[in-house]
Amino acid sequence: MTFDRSIKIAPSILSADFADFGREIRAIEAQGADWVHVDVMDGHFVPNLTFGPPAVKAFRPHVKTFMDVHLMISPVDPYIEAYAEAGADMITAHVEAGPHIHRTLQAIRATGCKAGVALNPGTPASAIEHVLDLADMVLVMTVNPGFGGQKFIDLTEKVRRVRAMIGDRPVHIQIDGGVTPETAPLVAAAGADVLVAGSAVFKGGSVENPAPYGDNIRAIRAAAEGVLSSVA
Ligand code: DX5
Ligand code: ZN
Repeated sequence: MTFDRSIKIAPSILSADFADFGREIRAIEAQGADWVHVDVMDGHFVPNLTFGPPAVKAFRPHVKTFMDVHLMISPVDPYIEAYAEAGADMITAHVEAGPHIHRTLQAIRATGCKAGVALNPGTPASAIEHVLDLADMVLVMTVNPGFGGQKFIDLTEKVRRVRAMIGDRPVHIQIDGGVTPETAPLVAAAGADVLVAGSAVFKGGSVENPAPYGDNIRAIRAAAEGVLSSVA
């Protein structure tokens, strides 16, 4: 994957039909998703449980684009290899998940996966200052992790700080939580390029009627790109 800062839409399959992941993944990709975002939760770091490595491995053959695995688990290091072997293209770990984010990012890169580092809403941008050379992406959470469908927390100023810290490095900024056509322009203008959206992508559609997924993806993308062209 070559690096660029164009807007990428990453639907979270947390909002998909849990009995039909293969077809849901194929549907969102056919409708214009750039990446597929997989939310892994452990019932400990966050108050919800989702996908172990065998589930992620089962998703893999359906993903033709880029499988972005967001680990909301603690500890994280013992599971990195299993998620890499399950076929992740990117593995993102939280700075709050343990005392050794530097080691964690090294371990992710050692598997050959891209490495992402995530910040909860209450964690300052400065927490990632010394690991930027080990990261391919910074994830700024705009909800407290654990559930889809929550209200967007406006952290535009933090996104701007992260963007300034990144400078010329080839590091993406991802936003996750409450992204809609209304909130996407705020974060895109502040420097974000990868927009995760769960409920805002899946609402109104289904595998039998996937056209709304495409309308929803295009609406988020147009809103984000619109603000960029107006400031360019
Ligand atoms: C939250 C997850 C998100 C979530 C986003 O813990 O990391 O990826 O699914 O869902 P929406 O877009 O509905 O806020
Ligand atoms: Zn996520």
